[in-house]
Amino acid sequence: MLNEPVRRVVQFATGNVGRHSLRAIIGRPDLELVGVHAAGPDKIGRDAAELCGLAQPTGVIATDDIDALIALKPECVVYTALGETRPAAAVEEMSRFLCAGINVVGTSMVWLVTPRYADDWLRVPLEQACAAGSASLYVNGIDPGYSGDTAVHAALSLVSRAESVTVQEIFDYGSYDDYEYTGTAMGFGSTAADDLPMAFQPGVITSLFGGLVRSVAGHLDTELDEIRERYQPWYAEKRIECTMTTVEPGQLAAVRFAVEGVRAGVPVITVEHVNRLTTAAAPEWEFPPDGRSGVHKVVVEGEPRVELSTQLSHPVLDVTDAGCLSTAARAVNAIDWVCRAPAGLVSIEDIPPVAMIRGLMW
Ligand SMILES: NC(=O)c1ccc[n+]([C@@H]2O[C@H](COP(=O)([O-])OP(=O)(O)OC[C@H]3O[C@@H](n4cnc5c(N)ncnc54)[C@H](OP(=O)(O)O)[C@@H]3O)[C@@H](O)[C@H]2O)c1
Repeated sequence: MLNEPVRRVVQFATGNVGRHSLRAIIGRPDLELVGVHAAGPDKIGRDAAELCGLAQPTGVIATDDIDALIALKPECVVYTALGETRPAAAVEEMSRFLCAGINVVGTSMVWLVTPRYADDWLRVPLEQACAAGSASLYVNGIDPGYSGDTAVHAALSLVSRAESVTVQEIFDYGSYDDYEYTGTAMGFGSTAADDLPMAFQPGVITSLFGGLVRSVAGHLDTELDEIRERYQPWYAEKRIECTMTTVEPGQLAAVRFAVEGVRAGVPVITVEHVNRLTTAAAPEWEFPPDGRSGVHKVVVEGEPRVELSTQLSHPVLDVTDAGCLSTAARAVNAIDWVCRAPAGLVSIEDIPPVAMIRGLMW
C-alpha cells in the first residue's frame, strides 16, 4: 500500500450490506470516508460511526442530499441502497454520480453482476452516464456474484475437461432479518392458494441468474440450446418461528429453484438455490455440510470432479449477516481498481483477481 493514493469514498445506504461497507471504509487506511447517504429520516443527521455500530465518531454526518455528496468530489460511491424494487430511482441515483465523474461500486441492481447480459433498459442509461462522466460502475456480491463467477473460475481452473457446472446456494434464511425484501419476494408465509411469489413469477429467476449461466457458457465457448427455470415450494407441516418470520402450517417455509443452461437436452450449467427457514423446513432437501447454516457450492463434473464449498463464519455475526459482510467486501475491495479503470460498466472478469486483495491486510 506504500505510496498508493487514499481514495475518497461516499457510502450510499446503511442497510444489511451498507453498514458493513461503511465499517470497512472507516477502518481501511487506504480509504477515506468523506460522506454518507441515508434515506431513513431516523438516520439523517447521525454520525456515520453510529450507523454502523462503531463507538468512535467520524465527524461524517448522514445526509439525503445527493448534490451535497457530489460536491464533496469523492472518487467513488459504494451504492448499497435497495435497488431491485425501485429500479428507476436506483438507476437515476447511480447515474447522477457517474455523470459527475464519480465511480460507483455496489451490490444493488444484481442484474449488473453480469453487465454484458443486462437488459437494455438498465445497461444503456448506465453506459451513457459512464460515458458522460468518464466514470466506471461495478456491481457484485456473494450470490449472485462470487458463487457464480470467482468460485466457478477457480473450480474450472482445476479441470482439463468439464461436463457440467452446478452452482448452489444452500442457506437457512431463518436468521435473516429481511422479511421486507427477501421474505416477501420469496413468499415465505404464503400458501399454495396465493399468487406465485414475486421472485417465482415466470422469467424472474432467469432475469436474476440467467446472466451468470450465459456468462459461464460464454467463458466455456459453449452454445446453449435453451435456458430454462424451475421452482419448487415446500409448505410447513408445523409452525416455524424464526427471525425472518413466523410460518404457520400450510405456509411456505422453503424454496428450491434453479436456472439451467441446457445443451442436447441436458442441463450443463445450473445455478440453484435451496433456501429454508430453520432446519425444520424441507428436511428431505440437501443441507450444507457439517451442520452449517449455509454454503455456497460449486460442483464441476469433469476430469477430475471438483467440489468447492465456501462457508463463512464469524464470532459475532450469524451466517446471513456474514454473507452481507462478504457482499460488501466484493464491492469495497474493488474500489481502487475501479477508480483506475477505463470508463464504462465493469464486470468481475475485467479485474485482475489480485487487484481485489489490495489494502486488505491492515
Ligand atoms: N449479490 C448478493 O450476494 C447480494 C447480497 C445481499 C444484498 N444484495 C443487494 O444489495 C442491495 C442492498 O441489500 P440490503 O440487504 O443491504 O438491503 P436493505 O437493508 O433492505 O436496504 C438497504 C438500504 O436501502 C435503502 N432504501 C430502502 N428502501 C428505500 C427507498 N424506498 N428509497 C431510498 N432508499 C431506500 C435504505 O437506506 P438507508 O439505510 O439510507 O435508510 C436501506 O437501508 C440490494 O439491492 C440487494 O439485492 C446482493
